[in-house]
Amino acid sequence: MDLIIRRAMLPRSAFQQHQQQHQQPLDIGIDAGRIVALEPDLAASAREEIDAAGSLVTPPFVDPHFHMDATLSYGLPRVNASGTLLEGIALWGELKPQLTQEALIERAMQYCDWAVARGLLAIRSHVDVCDPRLLAVEALLEVKRRVAPYLDLQLVAFPQDGVLRSAGAFDNLKRAIGMGVDVVGGIPHFERTMADGAQSVRMLCEYAAEQGLRVDMHCDESDDPLSRHIETLAAETHRLGLHGRVAGSHLTSMHSMDNYYVSKLLPLMRDSGVAAIANPLINITLQGRSDTYPKRRGMTRVPEMMAAGIEVAFGHDCVMDPWYSLGSGDMLEVAHMGLHVAQMTGVDAMHACFDAVTVNAARILGLEGYGIAPGCAANLVVLDARDAVEAIRLRAARLAVVSRGKVVSRAPAARASLSLEGRPAQVDFKLHRA
Ligand code: FE2
Repeated sequence: MDLIIRRAMLPRSAFQQHQQQHQQPLDIGIDAGRIVALEPDLAASAREEIDAAGSLVTPPFVDPHFHMDATLSYGLPRVNASGTLLEGIALWGELKPQLTQEALIERAMQYCDWAVARGLLAIRSHVDVCDPRLLAVEALLEVKRRVAPYLDLQLVAFPQDGVLRSAGAFDNLKRAIGMGVDVVGGIPHFERTMADGAQSVRMLCEYAAEQGLRVDMHCDESDDPLSRHIETLAAETHRLGLHGRVAGSHLTSMHSMDNYYVSKLLPLMRDSGVAAIANPLINITLQGRSDTYPKRRGMTRVPEMMAAGIEVAFGHDCVMDPWYSLGSGDMLEVAHMGLHVAQMTGVDAMHACFDAVTVNAARILGLEGYGIAPGCAANLVVLDARDAVEAIRLRAARLAVVSRGKVVSRAPAARASLSLEGRPAQVDFKLHRA
């Protein structure tokens, strides 16, 4: 074998997959880029071995919602002084004419390096198609080619200024798909009227159905309780037989919707197989801005959707761009924020937040061979934590990242050496019990 990871604790969802009642450390055997064995005390040898020593080994983090054309542009051409969504959109408009393909590629490649170091090995990125030059599309297709040996980059043709509102946007979107962009995007709440928004959803879903493509729309990203494009998106998904291939991103208006209406909406979403992608870091900072107090959180109804049987994942959305000046590609930070904002502090709920940045997101992207089982792709992360909850709590160090069977990143564990009144001590922030 090429590699064996010894004494690995798996996330709950992976243990459930193997119907293991009593969780115990397992050895993971890897050969030719695939997992070939998963059992305790594997009697085999390999060219390289990693001793996880009871630490959590997980399939990689998956970011189902990102904007790689804007990432790491913080401060260009100026910073977002107010920190609001509208100033962010204005800033992006100022930056767009100055973008060059070289600079776009350089920033995206730097971000992908950060992602790999964080164990983030699959990203769905929206790419703005409203610029007829399609500069960002060409740049991100080039990035997709360059990172393909170690990172899955899926691109969404995103008409940032509205597919109906922005002249030529639908043609640009189709050109982008023709060039190799994977998924059809949209932004119905940004069209001029509610009716135009609904029309844009119908048009884009019909196009996706014709082309056999997935759909992921920025949908209802506002505090308006009457912004209900998610209803149209779910109904169109059902009408066109796109079940399991459509996602609504953000859905922040659901936070403010009438409860009775939502009790009808959730079953419609479940029955049409529409997934939901919340972006906790961005939703908590950009929504509720026109409120005084009480101030709404703005994130969509994550635990309620999960309880209704809807696929829900968390995305990062932004890192150091016109909308968000923080972030480092750490999906554990995303899960940490999502857990807090949604008050998902029950034990099962905390594990569900870990699933929201791993398995759930992988299903939304339609990733093949994702998971820890013989036959799966050998994409794995060794975390400095004993379980998923501890990983979220500590935003645990990614001790080793394995992509396509190769170790592509290593990082030291976070430790502090104390000297207190002459008493030396080592701290690793885990609670060690005798
Ligand atoms: Fe977004």
